Amino acid sequence: MALQASSFLPSALSAHKEGKANGGLKDSAFLGVNLSEHRMKSSFSSPLLTSGKRLNASTIIRAQTAATASPAINKASPEAKKTLRKGNVVITGASSGLGLATAKSLAETGKWNVVMACRDFLKAEKAAKSAGMAKENYSIMHLDLASLDSVRQFVRNFRQSGMPLDTLVCNAAVYFPTAGEPTYTAEGFEMSVGVNHIGHFLLARELLEDMKQSDYPSRRLIIVGSITGNTNTLAGNIPPKANLGDLRGLAGGLNETTGSAMIDGGKFDGAKAYKDSKVCNMLTMQEFHRRYHEDTGISFASLYPGCIATTGLFREHIGLFRTLFPPFQKYITKGFVSEEEAGNRLAQVVSDPSLTKSGVYWSWNKNSASFENQLSQEASDVEKARKVWEMTEKLLGLA
Ligand SMILES: NC(=O)c1ccc[n+]([C@@H]2O[C@H](COP(=O)([O-])OP(=O)(O)OC[C@H]3O[C@@H](n4cnc5c(N)ncnc54)[C@H](OP(=O)(O)O)[C@@H]3O)[C@@H](O)[C@H]2O)c1
Repeated sequence: MALQASSFLPSALSAHKEGKANGGLKDSAFLGVNLSEHRMKSSFSSPLLTSGKRLNASTIIRAQTAATASPAINKASPEAKKTLRKGNVVITGASSGLGLATAKSLAETGKWNVVMACRDFLKAEKAAKSAGMAKENYSIMHLDLASLDSVRQFVRNFRQSGMPLDTLVCNAAVYFPTAGEPTYTAEGFEMSVGVNHIGHFLLARELLEDMKQSDYPSRRLIIVGSITGNTNTLAGNIPPKANLGDLRGLAGGLNETTGSAMIDGGKFDGAKAYKDSKVCNMLTMQEFHRRYHEDTGISFASLYPGCIATTGLFREHIGLFRTLFPPFQKYITKGFVSEEEAGNRLAQVVSDPSLTKSGVYWSWNKNSASFENQLSQEASDVEKARKVWEMTEKLLGLA
């Protein structure tokens, strides 16, 4: 399988070049070296909850000033401002990369209690400590998105904590660009789509009920997207391109023993499976918006945080790629974004009063100003979003 370096070309190149796809650009070519030999096979207001029974002393952590970033806070009555509490945000995959940087950025404000939802408790604890996060600003709860039982257990544990849920960030992801064969989640779904989309779908569906009960002025459900799933960009046009096709593989359960491990029913390709999963993430955010925004007031958003070439996302890639990719992004494409900067961007989507719009896919320009970006035709296809939603519900036994 070809190296997928080009899957992560930066927004600086692509976000403003919709329709100027360069389908012929190959990964080995744009890195400026011949990598073909290295191709390999492997892979507020009132703090009272509407549900009074879930309120305990720990939920009202401490009063905040009216400066907390939320538009609704500004609109709240003077009395409400007095009782403003800390926000509670669950971030999946907060043990490294973007998730950790976001957790740190929010924790540092002292206005958020970050629940780090991670599969490796010790790793998360060490990561939080080495990031210098103060104990009173975070907690860790076990979550393995590759197991639906674990997702359900997480939801039970979270509810038992008595914390209200104000914002959920679906950030965790896996990427297997060099895998020759699919691997599977506990329930037998291809791993990339199983973790990135299906696990998050169940988590978000369950926790939506908790967010509905929150009294926090600005509640948000954020699903991290990617430029690589958007074929209206340069990066999104590097083969293999995202394409969900007629969804026959998803309908069949994403397993080669019963059909195909790929959403479109095709031959397994780890890089494509990741991009397809990101299309599902972006479609899911929009379908949440259509189904629930008006009734609940919750904002649903997705984002492309920039090319964070140094994160563990690329851990399954060959060594040469991992060595060359960060300098290539820094000095050639200039699309590199540090983990810290990307974390600040995602933290902005969590808490900035100017980013409450629902149904939006956020990106950033060279000056680090956020803007509402356009999704590709497939990633904004209303009918496909509905179908992905319904098929995923069916796989989860929710329909
Ligand atoms: N890096 C980029 O350039 C880039 C660009 C666009 C979008 N993104 C998106 O940014 C998000 C974060 O990626 P990253 O770059 O920060 O990569 P990362 O450092 O590898 O972070 C991924 C996180 O997901 C967690 N995770 C993986 N499988 C899991 C599972 N089964 N259950 C629970 N958690 C699991 C990992 O946990 P462990 O620590 O235990 O491995 C890790 O904390 C992803 O959604 C990715 O698609 C990244």
